[in-house]
Amino acid sequence: MGWAEPSMFEEVKHGNKPFAMRIPALLVSRGRDGKANFLTAMWFSAMGFEPSRLVVGVSKSTYTYGLLQETGEFVMTAPTRDMMDIVVFAGRISGRDVDKFEATGLTPVRPSKVTVPLIGEAIGNVEYRIVNQIPFDENMDLFVGEVLCAHMRKGSMEGELFREDADPLLYLGTKYDDHHKSLGKHYANFSDIECADYDSPLLKKYVTRR
Ligand SMILES: Cc1cc2nc3c(=O)[nH]c(=O)nc-3n(C[C@H](O)[C@H](O)[C@H](O)COP(=O)(O)O)c2cc1C
Repeated sequence: MGWAEPSMFEEVKHGNKPFAMRIPALLVSRGRDGKANFLTAMWFSAMGFEPSRLVVGVSKSTYTYGLLQETGEFVMTAPTRDMMDIVVFAGRISGRDVDKFEATGLTPVRPSKVTVPLIGEAIGNVEYRIVNQIPFDENMDLFVGEVLCAHMRKGSMEGELFREDADPLLYLGTKYDDHHKSLGKHYANFSDIECADYDSPLLKKYVTRR
C-alpha cells in the first residue's frame, strides 16, 4: 500500500472527537426509596438488533451508580432541542444535592415494564433491565441493558426514521476560546433527510438497496 502523508489532518487533544455529534441521553434511575434521578449520558452505545441491548458507562462517583444496582433497571431518554439546558444541568449537578425532577419540572410518566419513570417532554424513552455489569476501570463500570420497551413521541417518526420536522437534540460539546476558556456547551439542529445514493458507482457495483 502506498501511504499518503496526513497533511489533510491535524492532531487534536480530545479523543473520539469525530464521533462527538450525537443525541445524548438522560439516564433515568430510581432508588428503593422511590426517588427518581437522571444524569446526562454520552458514554453509551446500542448493541445488536435482536435482542437489542445497550451498553452505558457509569462513573462510580455518581448517585446514579448506586441507584442502578438497587433496582437493576433504567430508562434512557432522548431529549428534544428544547431540553439543552436540562442536558447541561443534569451533566453537572448530582441527585445527591438536588432533586432533578423537582428542579427541572420534567414530567415523570408511567413506564410499561420497569419501575423507573419515562420523561414526558422527551422525543423518546427506552426501558431496560440490567443483564450485566462489567468492570471497566477503577472509576467506571459498564452496564448492559436489555430493551424491554421503546416509546417514541407520536408523530416524530416515519417508519424507523426520525421525521424531518422532528427535533432531537444533537449535542456537539464544549467550545473553547484561544485561552482555553469555555464558551459553553453547543448543539446543532436536525433537518434535511437524504437517502444514500444507490446509483453511485460504488454502491451500484457492490450493494443492492434492500
Ligand atoms: C455531555 C456529558 C456526558 C456525560 N456522560 C456521562 C456518562 O455517560 N456516564 C457518566 O457516568 N457520567 C456522564 N457525565 C457526567 C454526569 O452526567 C454527571 O457526573 C452527573 O452530575 C451525575 O449525576 P448523579 O450524581 O445525579 O448521578 C456526562 C456529563 C456530560 C456533560
